[in-house]
Amino acid sequence: MALAPPHDRMPDPLAPCSVRVEPVTPALRAAVERLRVAPAQRAQVGDVPVHLAQAARDPCSEPMAILADGIVVGFYRLDFATRTVGGRDFGAACVALRPFLVDARWQGRGLGRRALRALLDDLAARHPQRRLLLLAVDCGNHAARALYRRAGFVDSGALLPGGRGGPQHLLLRALGGVGECPAWTISAAVS
Ligand SMILES: CC(C)(COP(=O)(O)OP(=O)(O)OC[C@H]1O[C@@H](n2cnc3c(N)ncnc32)[C@H](O)[C@@H]1OP(=O)(O)O)[C@@H](O)C(=O)NCCC(=O)NCCS
Repeated sequence: MALAPPHDRMPDPLAPCSVRVEPVTPALRAAVERLRVAPAQRAQVGDVPVHLAQAARDPCSEPMAILADGIVVGFYRLDFATRTVGGRDFGAACVALRPFLVDARWQGRGLGRRALRALLDDLAARHPQRRLLLLAVDCGNHAARALYRRAGFVDSGALLPGGRGGPQHLLLRALGGVGECPAWTISAAVS
């Protein structure tokens, strides 16, 4: 039987694995395009091929792959435009995350939590000038909200209308070891 391409093979769910993130290169693209979430989750994150196509047209956007033991298991996009979330301007030191997903086959195994850690390390290494990470999450997406809270995000208190999955919370996380979110970021979010 022919083996699946290396970036598509399944990691052993019981074995410890190394989780890393890297920009979507041509070599990773096909495996990234095959990532799927459950039908009920599509309203929250959309389709990966659409995100890849949008990112290719947008110089402020960087598509990223999540890899477990070298296998593509997830995807996210970094967005460096200043008014990317909720139309608010957080300045040049911000970066937004949209979407963030782990393939349905690999959810619930700790990969999302570890990918967020790798994402933060990657931002510190490649984009150390960025001080604030933002994202919008559907109010009803309790799993993701819990995951982000544990990764150090705080709820700005601002509620954004109009996501495909309904109203969204705007979450913020300080970057670069500055500790808690500075007060100005919260007031920028809610103003
Ligand atoms: C949200 C998502 C990225 C989490 O990835 P994951 O690999 O399943 O998450 P993990 O296995 O690392 O779990 C992280 C935490 O969330 C909790 N969790 C995971 N799935 C959960 C669920 N369905 N309900 C409640 N909690 C859940 C886990 O218990 C874990 O908590 P712990 O750190 O205390 O153990 C993934 O479920 C996903 O891609 N969902 C669809 C897309 C989405 O909603 N993205 C967020 C949009 S902003």
